[in-house]
Amino acid sequence: MTYLNSLKSDGIQPLLVDGGDWLFSLGRLHPNPLLQQQMHQKALLLIDAYNLFGTFAAAVGEHDLALGLDQLVQFEQRMKFPLLCANLKDATGQSPFAASTIVTSQGRKVLIVGAMRVPPQRFINKHCAGATFSDPYPAILAELEAHRDEVDLCVVLGHINRADVDRLAAEVPGVDVVVEPNSSNGSENTWINDKIKTTLHQGTVLLKPSGQGSELSRADLWLRESGQPWVSIWDEDAPAGSNIADLSTVALAPHIGRHPAMEKIVQDFLATTRYKTPIDEQKMTFKPSSQFLGSVTCAVCHPQQTAFWKKTAHGRAYATLEASGDQFRYDCMPCHVTGYGETFVDAHQPGRWKDVQCESCHGQNPRHPSQPQAFPWPAVQDNNCWACHNPSETKVPFDPVQAMPRIACPPLKRATDEKH
Ligand code: HEC
Ligand code: HEC
Ligand code: HEC
Ligand code: HEC
Repeated sequence: MTYLNSLKSDGIQPLLVDGGDWLFSLGRLHPNPLLQQQMHQKALLLIDAYNLFGTFAAAVGEHDLALGLDQLVQFEQRMKFPLLCANLKDATGQSPFAASTIVTSQGRKVLIVGAMRVPPQRFINKHCAGATFSDPYPAILAELEAHRDEVDLCVVLGHINRADVDRLAAEVPGVDVVVEPNSSNGSENTWINDKIKTTLHQGTVLLKPSGQGSELSRADLWLRESGQPWVSIWDEDAPAGSNIADLSTVALAPHIGRHPAMEKIVQDFLATTRYKTPIDEQKMTFKPSSQFLGSVTCAVCHPQQTAFWKKTAHGRAYATLEASGDQFRYDCMPCHVTGYGETFVDAHQPGRWKDVQCESCHGQNPRHPSQPQAFPWPAVQDNNCWACHNPSETKVPFDPVQAMPRIACPPLKRATDEKH
């Protein structure tokens, strides 16, 4: 908001759009009703924030359907801008969202088209039963063909496959800008990295912002002739009269200034997601899973392994978040604690579940302490690691063969070892 205001004070009225997957970081419907409510409240917060931003349009992504299609249709009522999806039909065969919209920005007419890639059938069954997704590429082409002549500029919110983004940019005349939220580096990073993500591809502007609201992709466009390719402002050989694009990536954090209206909706959100009173009032009960014992229990019998673990990054994962003040963020905390959603749900009350504890890797085995030999643990497998070392959300490439020895606790000294 403060960044947008700084643009406005320079006389720039940006045409702000989002390529989808903006409402939820969890793409699936979590069975815990408290989590669902948290997701719902966070969605309302984001919608209010996007309204304050002055967003022109947003595409639909799979994650936006996490609480179901009906809920997303309801959410749209609160939005002061349209959700776009050219290739979705609901169970009754109707299009729940507009395929495109035409807006006026700085005296130019701009067509904005949105579409999303076809999700797996099991996703459709769960989140929008009966709905159908057609191939997004021809759906986008049809919108462009229908409206291209009425406008000065065409923007595609392409929540689609990489190959289709390239085809759109390279093969379809008159596409000026493609917003590419799914690009290989678009949503990969929880933090800002140095890679340049926004490029010109065969004369088309490709905007690839990073995930988690950490960046904005910005294109400053000097339109001379509609339908002509874009040339970089740095291109000294550009023919006179070309359409000129100046592309940049704007890091949003940590340059956060104060904005009272935005602060208020964020404070309201934080207040309502603490669940101090809502739990009683709404008779929502959260029963922690009895499967988790916690590292304090294991420490009693395995002091050596516990001491080792404390020295690893997992043993201080929560302190890492505390250091930057991010421990209450639902998009950060779950990977830096143990059993989130099963052990606790309120970010303000992590209790003894801070850090990536023993059971994150070893799994659950609640009867082990009473009869260790009768209830042994299986060997640690890398499938437990991927939940957090998720390549789409972390920045260090994860190789279990290299990583496992770095975190493997020292072996137990067993009676049988001595016999050998
Ligand atoms: C519950 C989430 C979670 C699970 C499960 C998990 N990790 Fe981690 N891992 C983290 C976090 C978070 C960090 C970073 C902690 C920090 O620096 O604050 C980390 C750090 C690491 C590091 C150190 C990285 C470095 O550069 O210092 C290694 C190695 C590692 N994990 C390996 C594994 C392996 C192998 C598994 C599976 C057996 C695993 N992790 C399971 C969350 C997890
Ligand atoms: C999907 C799980 C996941 C989420 C969500 C997550 N982290 Fe982590 N975090 C990790 C893992 C795994 C590591 C270990 C290094 C790596 O793989 O990037 C890590 C490492 C870190 C580190 C230390 C290493 C470094 O690069 O400085 C910091 C700081 C950190 N995370 C902060 C955050 C913040 C802030 C958020 C929320 C914006 C967040 N994390 C969200 C899993 C996660
Ligand atoms: C009451 C003591 C006790 C507690 C508490 C305990 N363990 Fe153990 N654990 C043992 C003993 C004893 C063995 C050795 C069993 C054997 O000799 O086969 C063992 C073995 C293990 C092993 C080796 C594989 C196996 O099953 O033989 C792992 C891994 C392990 N424990 C993890 C844990 C974890 C994780 C926790 C906490 C969630 C935990 N233990 C809590 C006593 C305990
Ligand atoms: C990041 C993942 C990870 C975490 C967290 C973790 N361990 Fe381990 N632990 C391993 C791996 C990997 C091994 C090597 C043996 C195996 O593959 O099962 C191991 C080995 C052990 C062993 C020896 C097993 C044997 O057969 O000799 C014990 C006991 C143990 N861990 C207990 C714990 C306890 C207690 C904690 C928490 C304080 C803990 N571990 C936290 C991954 C982890």
